[in-house]
Amino acid sequence: MIPSRAARRTIAMIRAAAAIGAAACLIGCAHDLPMNTLAPKSDLAEWIYRLFLQLTAWDALIFAIVLVATALALFRFSTRVGEAAPSMSARSDLALEVAWTVGPALVLLFISIPTVALIFRSQPAQAPAGAMVIDVTAHQWWWEFRYPATGITTANELHIPVATQIRLELKSADVIHSFWVPALGGKRDVVPGQINHLTLQARDDGVYFGQCGEFCGLSHANMRFRVFVDSPQQFARWQQDQLVKPPGPPPSGPIADGAEIFASSPCTTCHTIAGVSKGVLAPNLTHFASRTTLAGGIMPNTADNLARWIENPSRLKPGAQMPALQVRGKSLDDLVAYIESLK
Ligand code: CUA
Repeated sequence: MIPSRAARRTIAMIRAAAAIGAAACLIGCAHDLPMNTLAPKSDLAEWIYRLFLQLTAWDALIFAIVLVATALALFRFSTRVGEAAPSMSARSDLALEVAWTVGPALVLLFISIPTVALIFRSQPAQAPAGAMVIDVTAHQWWWEFRYPATGITTANELHIPVATQIRLELKSADVIHSFWVPALGGKRDVVPGQINHLTLQARDDGVYFGQCGEFCGLSHANMRFRVFVDSPQQFARWQQDQLVKPPGPPPSGPIADGAEIFASSPCTTCHTIAGVSKGVLAPNLTHFASRTTLAGGIMPNTADNLARWIENPSRLKPGAQMPALQVRGKSLDDLVAYIESLK
C-alpha cells in the first residue's frame, strides 16, 4: 500500500525531529571530548564561543526564513496531477527588491561588527601588563616552549598558571604551522620570519590537548601537544623542578653506562642536556622524564615507548628528522634508563 500524502509528511517530520535530536545529543556528548571548542576554558575561547553562538543565531534565523519560504512555495504553488500549472508572470516589485538587498546587507553588518571587534580585542599589540611571556617555536614536528624570565626550555608540554595573563610569542623554525588548543582558543598561524601572538588567560586548571592546525608535512597529524593549566602552587613546583639541574649519573650501573653512551652519540649534536650537550635542533632533554608524553605528544612517556622511538623514529612518526640510533640490547636499555632518569 502506498502511504498517503499526510502519512508521508508525518514520517518526514519524525525523521527531521530524530536528526535534530541526534545532533543535539552529539553536541552534548562533545562536552567530554578532549579537543572541544564548545566548552571554553579561557577568556579568549569564551569570546570566540560567544561570537559563534551569536553568528549561529543569525544563521538559524536565516535558515528558518528560507525554510518557511520554501514550504510556502511548495504548498501554495505546487501543482497536482490533472491541474493546470499556475500562470507565472515576471513583474517588478521595488519594495521586494529593496527588502532582499537591504536585509542580507544588514545581516552581514550584524555579523561583521562583532567579528571585527573580536579580532582586535583578541590580538592586543602589546602584552598586557604583568603577562607571563612564553616563546613558542614550531618545528617539523614538535613544539618548543621557552620561558625567557626563568630560562626554562621544554617541549610538547606547555605549563601555564591558571588565571594569569599569558602572552605566547609564536615563531616557526621551518614551515607554516598553526598553534591550536581548542579549549583555550586559537588557532593562530605560526609563520616563518615573523612573530605572531596569542594572549589568553586560562580559567580552569586541567590538561588541554593541542594540535598543529596547518598542514606542515608528512607528520602534521603527529604534531600534538598538551597545555597543563596548573594551580599557582603546582606551577611554582613545576617551575622549581625545571630549574634544578638533574643530578649527574651515579658512578656505576645502567644509568651511568647510558650517560656514557649518550655523551659519545650523535644525539648530542641536536639535543641539549644541561651540563652534557648543547644541541638546539631537537627537544631539550634536560628534564625529559618530567614530561608525560614523547615524540610530539604522540605516545605516553614510558621506557618501552622511548626504546621503540630511539630504535626507529620514522616508523612511529613518518618523516621524523631524528635518525635511528644503532644501539640495541643492553646498550639501548642503559640509554633509556639514563634518559628516563632526567627528572
Ligand atoms: Cu605543524 Cu602541521
